Amino acid sequence: MAELNLVLLGPPGSGKGTQGERLNEDLRLPYYATGDILRAAVRDKTELGRTAKGYMDAGDLVPDEVIVGVIVEALDSDAARDGFILDGFPRTTPQAEALDAKLDELGRRVTAVLLIDVTDDEVVRRIGGRRTCAENGHVFHVDFNPPKREGACDIDGSELITRDDDNPATIRNRLNQYHEKTEPLVDYYDQRSVLRRIDGEKDPDEVAEEIRRTLATMRLEQDEAV
Ligand code: AP5
Repeated sequence: MAELNLVLLGPPGSGKGTQGERLNEDLRLPYYATGDILRAAVRDKTELGRTAKGYMDAGDLVPDEVIVGVIVEALDSDAARDGFILDGFPRTTPQAEALDAKLDELGRRVTAVLLIDVTDDEVVRRIGGRRTCAENGHVFHVDFNPPKREGACDIDGSELITRDDDNPATIRNRLNQYHEKTEPLVDYYDQRSVLRRIDGEKDPDEVAEEIRRTLATMRLEQDEAV
């Protein structure tokens, strides 16, 4: 398999960021997490950040035209030539179509969409206890993945904070947005035979192992097909 163009799909709090970090370490491919990109833009008070902030604080999706340009530009770069990992994009059918159009133009296609499946109740439990590193967005959980030293990131030592959009009202809206606007992508990618379902309710190490197995099987199938 020449290149790996991966998409991580799943509800808020399903573990996309947790597994994205691990995949990034395993595969050494550029990792584009649109939530992290937008939060950095808000922090840096750029035009993108000023546009996105209100939507993010309310738990709404930012408009397609705001985010599509960011990803299209990233995929056009030399860094993404051998593949990429997308986390949090696409999130709507127009975003998926824009991604396909860009990849078509480059003579490429999405290799696999990993759907990290968890229930709404689990989402609420996870997001309620999430702590995020202020500097680089590394993710912890007070019960399921606690940092070694309370309040400090294991990786870079920076302060651990609760994200502005991790409050009960916003979580409910983010889940509604997911079911209404993002879940249709499950069928979209299933019809294109690239969807792979991952049981996201297991322990993070087991989820990572299932992802590794899934990608290894895909490689074998593709090698056999050549
Ligand atoms: P974004 O940052 O992408 O938020 P999200 O999709 O809501 O996803 P999360 O970051 O909340 O969760 P995750 O799935 O990464 O889970 P995590 O690994 O942290 O987007 C934020 C906002 O930006 C959006 O609301 C929107 O406004 C905007 N936006 C972004 N992209 C956009 C787009 N394409 N279009 C429009 N708007 C966009 O895990 C969660 C917690 O659970 C952690 O504490 C973790 O330690 C724990 N955990 C993880 N895995 C496990 C496990 N297996 N068992 C137990 N605990 C676990």
